[in-house]
Amino acid sequence: MMMTNSRKNCFFLPKIDEKSLESHNLRPNSLDFLQQQIPELQESLESGCKDFSQLDLSSAAKKFRRIANNLKMLESLCSTEGKCHPKNILNDLTGKQWLRHTKSWLIVDGKPGEISPEIKNHPASFPPSLAAYFIEYFSKKGQWVFDPFMGIGSTAEACFLTQRNCFGTEINLDYAQYAQERIIQLQSKTSMNNSANSDSLSPGSLSFQTLHSNEFDKFKIFHGDARTAVKIWKDSKIPAIDFLITSPPYWNILHTKRGGVKSVLKRRVEAGLDEVYSDLDGDLGNINEYNKYLGQIKEIFSSFRLILKPKAYVMVIIQNVRPKDGIMVPLAWDIAAQLKEDYLLRQEFIWCQDQKFLGIWGYPSTYVSNVHHHYCLVFQKN
Ligand SMILES: C[S@@+](CC[C@H](N)C(=O)[O-])C[C@H]1O[C@@H](n2cnc3c(N)ncnc32)[C@H](O)[C@@H]1O
Repeated sequence: MMMTNSRKNCFFLPKIDEKSLESHNLRPNSLDFLQQQIPELQESLESGCKDFSQLDLSSAAKKFRRIANNLKMLESLCSTEGKCHPKNILNDLTGKQWLRHTKSWLIVDGKPGEISPEIKNHPASFPPSLAAYFIEYFSKKGQWVFDPFMGIGSTAEACFLTQRNCFGTEINLDYAQYAQERIIQLQSKTSMNNSANSDSLSPGSLSFQTLHSNEFDKFKIFHGDARTAVKIWKDSKIPAIDFLITSPPYWNILHTKRGGVKSVLKRRVEAGLDEVYSDLDGDLGNINEYNKYLGQIKEIFSSFRLILKPKAYVMVIIQNVRPKDGIMVPLAWDIAAQLKEDYLLRQEFIWCQDQKFLGIWGYPSTYVSNVHHHYCLVFQKN
């Protein structure tokens, strides 16, 4: 049941041109960004259709769901649909975009095309598009976003895409270096695209990220402990922070080894990838005593009050976790409780992952779920 070439061709995606953007309520400067998505979209479409033609319906469904989720995310990043309200002091979104962002859950999966060996090597990064979604809602262009547990710089990339400035600290030297490198790579990719496309661009039309050309002082990424972030911020004369978004280590959960079927951890070991963030004492992921970990989280986030603007929002991305004994630890709820002296807990978003490997843990006797959602807790400096 193979498709002929002529059938296949009906999925060929043409290039998008600038004129059509406006009539579809898309930002004029999103052209390059949208065009970059075409090869991956084309590949996923073809591969989904191939699965369908071979009656592998579940694999086809998975691929088409991925396409649908990515398109939704692109729409929210690129659409204009009206104007930003002149009294909007929180973000640059139009009313419709604002409304869409208020839904309390979203599905985001990392795109295979975005995953470099360094990203693969980090045990727990989030997709830049997830951070970009929240950064667009909780800050305006040109404002300062802070990620104290920066990892390999997903937040920095999101800031680049959304034209925010970024301050971050990361305790693992390799990760911090890659986070810096990531911005340099994005920068040079953008410059190359700009010069390659310069003939076809009208005067003054910019690619999605051009505002950051040669403005590396807008990315302050440090190898350092989050406990010293306030000092680093002061010494570096960084302006007050408008929005904090971060995902700290989920307690010591990376050290948990599960027996039985092949776990993600076992597969990482076999592939020679990092199993844990580091062996450093300062790494919060290496604190075994739960209350000590919570105490340090409280202290660290309390110190950030000094560098946040009044009423700034703080987002902590975290999960409830299940150590080896199978008893759930309500880590997300406990962190919410720890932060409540310094911040008001405003809301929770639920980030769902739809493309993750499903492990068959308790089968056929015990209930063990695959936890493919995270809490994005929204606090506000009071
Ligand atoms: C969940 S990961 C964050 C990943 C990041 N969101 C990304 O997408 O790359 C937590 C990170 O916190 C770092 N970390 C642990 N303890 C730290 C500390 N005391 N100060 C700064 N970073 C720390 C770890 O090395 C790890 O990269």
